[in-house]
Amino acid sequence: MSKKATESAEDMVMENLIALCKRRGFIFQGSEIYGGLAGTWDYAPLGLMLKNNIRKLWWRRFVEIRDDMYGVDAALLMNQRTWEASGHVSGFADPMVECKKCKHRFRQDQLADPKKCPDCGGQLGEAQQFNMMFKTHVGANQDSASVSYLRPETAQGMFVNFKNILDTFHPKLPFGMAQIGKAFRNEIAPRDFLFRAREFEQMEIEYFVNPKDWEKTFEHFLAEMHAFIADVGLTSSKVSNYEVPDGDRAHYSKRTIDIEFAYPFGKKELYGLAYRTDFDLKQHTEFSKVNLSYYDEETKERYIPHCIEPSFGLDRTVLAVLTDAYTEDELGGEKRIYLKLATSVAPVKIAVFPLLKNKPALIDKAQEVFKLLKKEFGAVVFDDNGNIGKRYRRQDEIGTPFCVTVDFDTLEKGAGVTVRNRDTGKQARVAEQELIAYLKKAGV
Ligand code: GAP
Repeated sequence: MSKKATESAEDMVMENLIALCKRRGFIFQGSEIYGGLAGTWDYAPLGLMLKNNIRKLWWRRFVEIRDDMYGVDAALLMNQRTWEASGHVSGFADPMVECKKCKHRFRQDQLADPKKCPDCGGQLGEAQQFNMMFKTHVGANQDSASVSYLRPETAQGMFVNFKNILDTFHPKLPFGMAQIGKAFRNEIAPRDFLFRAREFEQMEIEYFVNPKDWEKTFEHFLAEMHAFIADVGLTSSKVSNYEVPDGDRAHYSKRTIDIEFAYPFGKKELYGLAYRTDFDLKQHTEFSKVNLSYYDEETKERYIPHCIEPSFGLDRTVLAVLTDAYTEDELGGEKRIYLKLATSVAPVKIAVFPLLKNKPALIDKAQEVFKLLKKEFGAVVFDDNGNIGKRYRRQDEIGTPFCVTVDFDTLEKGAGVTVRNRDTGKQARVAEQELIAYLKKAGV
């Protein structure tokens, strides 16, 4: 296949996926009835369930099952000094160019030809640094003292609370702070669905260590990040590490590994792991005049801890999971589209059907099975709409791993129910009293 043909096949995958997300209630364009707002996306019920499942897996791996992690949920708006100290006011900028003819603006470092407008072919002007923070004013006065920013990373909400955690919980190094929350960046060119948005969610850890331990901690988190990637079911051969070279790293980082994912539109960053040294705590000490050092009782030394930061985009995870799961195949001689989602993240785990919708005895029995499974597993739906083939297709499209059907053999012969596997389309007969154990064993 020629490069052009492959490119358009990949564009088609994204188009089809975005259409599925809308059709089935995963993700809608932000403010759609007004023509949308570029770089914003609204999660619909199924997308929210998928996102919440990912969020829960992350919190469990990185906070709940560890005894060295402190969760926080800091304010989105922070004192403007935070962003002066962090370096974002002076340095959080991308090079922007404007077309002299059509006036469209682009990020220069993403253009194939930095001199030619990709929209009209016109000549592009000189690059200017464009700060990506959303500026706002807090309170009724609109002066320089009231300026604040929507946070461009969740990280700073943790650094500014470092001393509060030390003073209230008295942790010994090493320990970490973890946070999941919104971040905002006024991206020059939001693109590729959820990949580069202006409002998105991050899941971040700031892990504080004695500087002599930074390398082994870095390796530990690199392995944990890959373990999380396996938790959400991403295909491991699509995931790779990229060692970010000197000169390309963020101003605070001495070492960065980007974990990349092969999206349909190319191999791009999924997560980042950075060695932020003592940069942030030192800067906040200087700007706030509050001492952010740590007294190490073992070595009898006082020092500013160093920080390892594993940073995850939640929406990028949703996108990677969806593009990885999107599958077109043939089943029973018919073309089908389905989401091959890992059971751990699938929004609906089980759908329960009566074989026919106009037989009250089948419906009653199916309702009984539905209630039993709903109580046990939560993410279970009941569907008696349309014929059974249509119901299977509908569930396949939203990635439901198992469909349980109550039929006449269930009622008349006590033959149990059928459990259909989404990926193979194969059905197994399972006795009612073994159904919960069967589904648990299958990974629900
Ligand atoms: N605290 C470090 C930090 O924010 P980053 O590499 O700029 O580092 C971390 O962002 C992660 O946040 C990225 O790896 C990506 O998953 C996600 N991310 C960054 N910008 C994004 C955007 N515009 N839209 C969606 N996700 C984004």
